[in-house]
Amino acid sequence: MVIIISIGGYFFSIYFGRPVWWKYINTFFPLLVFIISSIDIGSNIFLIFFGLSILIFKGAIFDRVPLYLSSTLVVDALSRIAISRNAKKFIDIGSGTGVVVFGLSCRIKQCCITGVESAPLTWLIGYCTKLYNKSDNVCWLYGNMWRTNLSEFDIVYAFLSPDPMTRLWEKATLEMGEGTILISNSFPIDGVAPDSIEYIGDKRGSVLYCYFPSAHKKNKADNLNQDSYLGY
Ligand SMILES: C[S@@+](CC[C@H](N)C(=O)[O-])C[C@H]1O[C@@H](n2cnc3c(N)ncnc32)[C@H](O)[C@@H]1O
Repeated sequence: MVIIISIGGYFFSIYFGRPVWWKYINTFFPLLVFIISSIDIGSNIFLIFFGLSILIFKGAIFDRVPLYLSSTLVVDALSRIAISRNAKKFIDIGSGTGVVVFGLSCRIKQCCITGVESAPLTWLIGYCTKLYNKSDNVCWLYGNMWRTNLSEFDIVYAFLSPDPMTRLWEKATLEMGEGTILISNSFPIDGVAPDSIEYIGDKRGSVLYCYFPSAHKKNKADNLNQDSYLGY
């Protein structure tokens, strides 16, 4: 019966055109439930795992942004971009365990690197890393990226999910200043052409989509002015 449900889950995912990871989740989840429920585990263990997963994956519940980490090649590319733009302030919004933040902090000492993370356990890992590394140029914050003002940063880096990208773009165009750059790993912004694209060539096939929000804001304002001039 479980196998039939699993196979059904696989074909349902295909039928409804779900992204590839849903095929795996819908196929293996029923099997996993069956295996775990047939092992004699105390309910406290489930409670502990449930608590831990909330402390790590809080972002998935509230923002549909789970935890996965940028590769070393992505950190190398970000470091090259920051150096070439002579960036003084960099922020990773949704900074996870700090792979990017601490990776950059030792590569570009002259830049102040901020990380803001909302999941308690991942934030705590970053906090301990900061203490251990004694990273003077790192500001490691526990908080919500939607309440973080982006106006003071030269580079804003995001590795989120497709879901919050439109909201992020609205925030970036409102807050980010002239000449600053928004870099999104893997998830482009719907309906906005990136100003440049960098293919990283790591195992995950990461792509950095780079946008200059202030330039887009200016183009939009120019178009509006032209439309009103033409009487639209
Ligand atoms: C895909 S991970 C990226 C981690 C890290 N930036 C990296 O590249 O290795 C996204 C992170 O964003 C965090 N997150 C989700 N929503 C957030 C929010 N509203 N404010 C701050 N962090 C958030 C998640 O907890 C998760 O750790």
